[in-house]
Amino acid sequence: MSAANMDTSSRAGTALERYYQFHSRIYDATRWSFLFGREEVLRRTARVTNPRRILEVGCGTGRNLPGLRRLFPQAHITGVDLSEQMLAIAAKKVRDDKTTLLRRSYSAALHGDGQPYDLVLFSYALSMFNPGWEQAINAAWDDLAEGGCVAVVDFSDSYFPWFRNWMSVNHVRMEGHLWPYLSQKFAPLLDERFAAYGGVWNYGIFIGRKQA
Ligand SMILES: C[S@@+](CC[C@H](N)C(=O)[O-])C[C@H]1O[C@@H](n2cnc3c(N)ncnc32)[C@H](O)[C@@H]1O
Repeated sequence: MSAANMDTSSRAGTALERYYQFHSRIYDATRWSFLFGREEVLRRTARVTNPRRILEVGCGTGRNLPGLRRLFPQAHITGVDLSEQMLAIAAKKVRDDKTTLLRRSYSAALHGDGQPYDLVLFSYALSMFNPGWEQAINAAWDDLAEGGCVAVVDFSDSYFPWFRNWMSVNHVRMEGHLWPYLSQKFAPLLDERFAAYGGVWNYGIFIGRKQA
């Protein structure tokens, strides 16, 4: 990715940005042990769509960007995130001129007068949009072309109050709130929950299509 492809115009100073000022340094070394399903959502997505334009919302350190590039070598990929520190790490992983990184908070559609996206991916992002998860899902709808797909992998819920509380300290809401709204908004192609660590929490994968 060329420096010209990185837009750093947004200037928010949210609690989440402050959280990632530290966590960006340990993110890739630690998150593999609990952000499950990230390979699976990409694999499953590739079975149902072959997008030319992809948007990953909350792309973070760019963990998914090389995987998206391998699966969809011709696609133009845009990663958007509000954390400057996370994006700086992502920029080192994507060095092709068909990938763009944008720094901003995602609360409204991005494509403007340009071409809409064929795929919008949220990977462990929506559970951190508090408030704003409904607006982000609505924005993804607006950003997608007719017949385009949304793909989501994220924390779902936990039976254990201590775990939900711990996750809320880490800005994650675990109330199973995402899935009903997603399946109401998009025609579901895949909508499943999986147990992590024998059921300490559940995570989910949703893939849906935009239909009029
Ligand atoms: C848990 S990380 C996930 C990163 C990556 N998608 C992955 O799977 O490893 C969540 C990311 O969402 C970003 N984020 C949270 N709220 C956001 C918002 N409103 N707009 C854009 N990015 C946001 C955070 O800065 C963070 O980098």
